Amino acid sequence: MTAQPTCIGIIGAGNISSTYLESDRKFKNIRITKVADIDMNRARAQAEKYGKQAATVDELLADPEITIVVNLTVPAAHAPVALQALKAGKHVYNEKPLATTREDAQRMLALARSKGLRIGGAPDTFLGGGLQTCRRLLDEGAIGRPVIAFARMLSRGMESWHPNPEFFFKPGGGPMFDMGPYYLTALATLLGPARRVSGMTRITHPERTITSQPLYGKKIIVEVPTLVSGLIEFGDGAIANITTTFDVAEGYDIGLTLYGTEGTLQCPDPNGFGGPVRLKRKDDKDWHEVHIQHKWVTNSRGLGVADMAAAIQEGRPHRASAELTYHVLDLMHAFHDSAREGRHVTLQSACDRPAPLPLDWP
Ligand SMILES: NC(=O)c1ccc[n+]([C@@H]2O[C@H](COP(=O)([O-])OP(=O)(O)OC[C@H]3O[C@@H](n4cnc5c(N)ncnc54)[C@H](O)[C@@H]3O)[C@@H](O)[C@H]2O)c1
Repeated sequence: MTAQPTCIGIIGAGNISSTYLESDRKFKNIRITKVADIDMNRARAQAEKYGKQAATVDELLADPEITIVVNLTVPAAHAPVALQALKAGKHVYNEKPLATTREDAQRMLALARSKGLRIGGAPDTFLGGGLQTCRRLLDEGAIGRPVIAFARMLSRGMESWHPNPEFFFKPGGGPMFDMGPYYLTALATLLGPARRVSGMTRITHPERTITSQPLYGKKIIVEVPTLVSGLIEFGDGAIANITTTFDVAEGYDIGLTLYGTEGTLQCPDPNGFGGPVRLKRKDDKDWHEVHIQHKWVTNSRGLGVADMAAAIQEGRPHRASAELTYHVLDLMHAFHDSAREGRHVTLQSACDRPAPLPLDWP
């Protein structure tokens, strides 16, 4: 790590930006200087709150000090904003999903490659203490050969709490695009890349009503499946069964469990950084909670950005990589393609499992 922190500019000053705007307090190798938004009032409000400079997108991209652009815009803007940042010579780290279409994401990857720039992407929760402990246990053979994983994210949807929830029900949204990345990134980093998938989808409520403020009472026309269920076959033969939905009465019922030839591993919420991690081996009577030695167990969004900044400085691969986030995007589309076309979909993408995060990094 160098003495000079890497300069970061944030585009998108909405709901999630607060967490990122605090990340340079945790990760000393990055320094967030500017925040931009298409809505300058938001950019100004967040800049003032977190002691940063407000800027237009063009001003931010013209700043020669800024090395990495963290793109926290809505999914439909992920690709256009990322392409603009790449054209301006910046490395880009996108919130999930990487883009709404494979084609847009491929354009981003090709442009980055041609300009010698990097792309990274959320989620970075797989770098948290909980999932890194699961990774260590798997690599040590704690559950033997993984056989089957079950992943579920069952919820009512976002219109009761998010101030601007419409995008969750438009292309690039839906439960698989919104929450799937946590589960699929966890699975791909634990089990390796997927080979093929099959999926089924439905829209249970074609119209929804916002009950949060300030848009209380506004109707949303649902344009994407709000229940996506599917099977994934991984390269080594393990299978995962995943369901994501915004359509059930249950407030938030989640889980990620891996069953192996020698034991079972209950992973923590992949949308978080901490535990608990529970293990039950073949002859154990009871579950036992595995101690987490890793450092990052509270909300540490930005860890992936900090790792990318360090990786650029050190000339090594970054962990929340373009290949990983593209593979996850490819998977999410594959469930929808499979449901629409009534066939298994073979993945055209792959990724290496990122190196485990050292216990005390950074
Ligand atoms: N809210 C969460 O809890 C959460 C958690 C993790 C990830 N995310 C992801 O982060 C992203 C943002 O989510 P959010 O909840 O902050 O949304 P949001 O709607 O609150 O904020 C998005 C911001 O982007 C701005 N924007 C849109 N298009 C733009 C453009 N072309 N140029 C500049 N600014 C533009 C909007 O004005 C808005 O301020 C989404 O991709 C979401 O999936 C959100």
